[in-house]
Amino acid sequence: MSTNTVDDKRKVTTVRLQQMKDRGEKIAMLTAYDYSMAQLVDAAGIDAILVGDSAANVMAGYSTTLPITVDEMITYASSVVRGAKRALIVCDMPFGSYQGNSEVALANAVHIIKESGAEALKLEGGAEIRESIERILAAGIPVMGHLGLTPQSVNKFGGYGLRAKGEAEAQKLIDDALMLQELGCFALVLEKIPADLARKVSEALTIPTIGIGAGSGTDGQVLVLQDMLGMNGGFAPKFLRKYADLSQVITSAIGNYVSDVKAVDFPNENEQY
Ligand code: KIV
Repeated sequence: MSTNTVDDKRKVTTVRLQQMKDRGEKIAMLTAYDYSMAQLVDAAGIDAILVGDSAANVMAGYSTTLPITVDEMITYASSVVRGAKRALIVCDMPFGSYQGNSEVALANAVHIIKESGAEALKLEGGAEIRESIERILAAGIPVMGHLGLTPQSVNKFGGYGLRAKGEAEAQKLIDDALMLQELGCFALVLEKIPADLARKVSEALTIPTIGIGAGSGTDGQVLVLQDMLGMNGGFAPKFLRKYADLSQVITSAIGNYVSDVKAVDFPNENEQY
């Protein structure tokens, strides 16, 4: 029987994620960016919450993740930390905060961890950011890697299409995954790559892999919360399963409120002092 159910109130740590991989239990991760949603996601039994830089899209309305800043990530992550009691909280390092100078990367990493209370950081990329990952790990901060479609490189890729279709890119991904494990990363996100490749990488690694658009062979799955709750209208990639249609539920509830106010039906006698 699973020991990682909603009834299991023990705090999820990076060590527990590793134990889940070791015993073959899948890891469920979702994004969250605010206190209220973090409370709900945590209460539903999620293993890990990613305060993703997808907040740039979902919360701030930017078309890419590039504009979000370290301080904005800290605001989102600290709100999530206050809302979630059980899940492991992982925060994305935003674009520009770790790709250049590794000393600057460490300073930003320490700043995010100190100010937000997040327990781990996620960085996009492989060999190119090796020095930054080494320094952050040496400071005792757990690092989750992220390979495949790395949205902070959207301008290099020219879009958000499937990655690692060709042999050369697939081989680099495998090499990077092994390197990230060797450095000491505790887990690895694999985004939008062929399912066969994701399974192969997951079988080759001892650390857990968490997939998004990478098939069922990874050790866990992650989705953007608003996407899986159906709050993001037209966004319907093949990999996304919508578990609710909250756009409809919310607009209908608000429409009813507007009608009630206009009709002087709200508030009624029982709803006033
Ligand atoms: O920012 C994010 O939400 C992510 C996930 C899509 C993995 O990085």
